[in-house]
Amino acid sequence: MHSFKIENISKYFGKFTALSQVSTHLNQEVISAIIGPNGAGKTTLVNVCTGMFPPDSGTIHFDTHNITRLPSHKRVRLGVARTFQIVNIFPELTVHDNIKVPLLFAKPKKEVEDAVDQSLASFGLTGLKDTRAVNISHGDQKLLEMAMAVAVEPKVLFLDEPTAGVGLEEKEKIIQTVQQFKGKDMVIAIIEHDMDTVFRIADRIIVMNEGEVIAQGSPEQIKANDFVRRIYLKEEA
Ligand SMILES: Nc1ncnc2c1ncn2[C@@H]1O[C@H](COP(=O)(O)OP(=O)(O)OP(=O)(O)O)[C@@H](O)[C@H]1O
Ligand SMILES: [Mg+2]
Repeated sequence: MHSFKIENISKYFGKFTALSQVSTHLNQEVISAIIGPNGAGKTTLVNVCTGMFPPDSGTIHFDTHNITRLPSHKRVRLGVARTFQIVNIFPELTVHDNIKVPLLFAKPKKEVEDAVDQSLASFGLTGLKDTRAVNISHGDQKLLEMAMAVAVEPKVLFLDEPTAGVGLEEKEKIIQTVQQFKGKDMVIAIIEHDMDTVFRIADRIIVMNEGEVIAQGSPEQIKANDFVRRIYLKEEA
């Protein structure tokens, strides 16, 4: 059973406090959602967790490894993967070849083609395999990026707004794909703004505001939390 433990993480950009004493524990058997208004620090937290930059204080443990200061390529080798808020694929390569790139690093050569086919099928991308990634829909690009991250069988997966800016139908496809990750041998955390989606996907919700975790718990606990209601009511007003 994998676990990802974030303890007292702070991160400053100059004088600005982007993360302040953030502590949370991501478990394997649940999908955790990280929510909060724009600028709350959600992406910064994922950046710190995946090694984009180190925190100024605090520790991060993946299983028994203290990965707080480990560079991101070494975290990838341990099985820590992510997708980006702004889609991050090879636009000029075909869908097939996009998935092939990470697999070339992760699998023996003779297993790569089968793994690509399997991945294409499980993300519903087989019909697009020979299309260049730049020419597929935004929703399919989001799915492709997810397929690339999952192809190498990570043990931890951070998804930064996988449904942002996609159409309704494609959003549904992405939600169902994320739901299928549950029960796999993987710790999953998803950043998501849409509360309906959050309550459909997540078993545990972490609420951030101005760099702090202001609440965390079950969907029921979060729904009942006064501060959460105020923030989201304020957002709607
Ligand atoms: N590399 C950076 N340098 C300076 N400031 C940064 C940097 N990255 C993030 N910030 C600032 O830190 C704060 C938190 O940003 P972050 O991207 O983590 O927010 P977020 O919760 O992901 O917001 P959103 O919902 O808009 O994606 C913001 O005020 C942002 O401008
Ligand atoms: Mg963000």
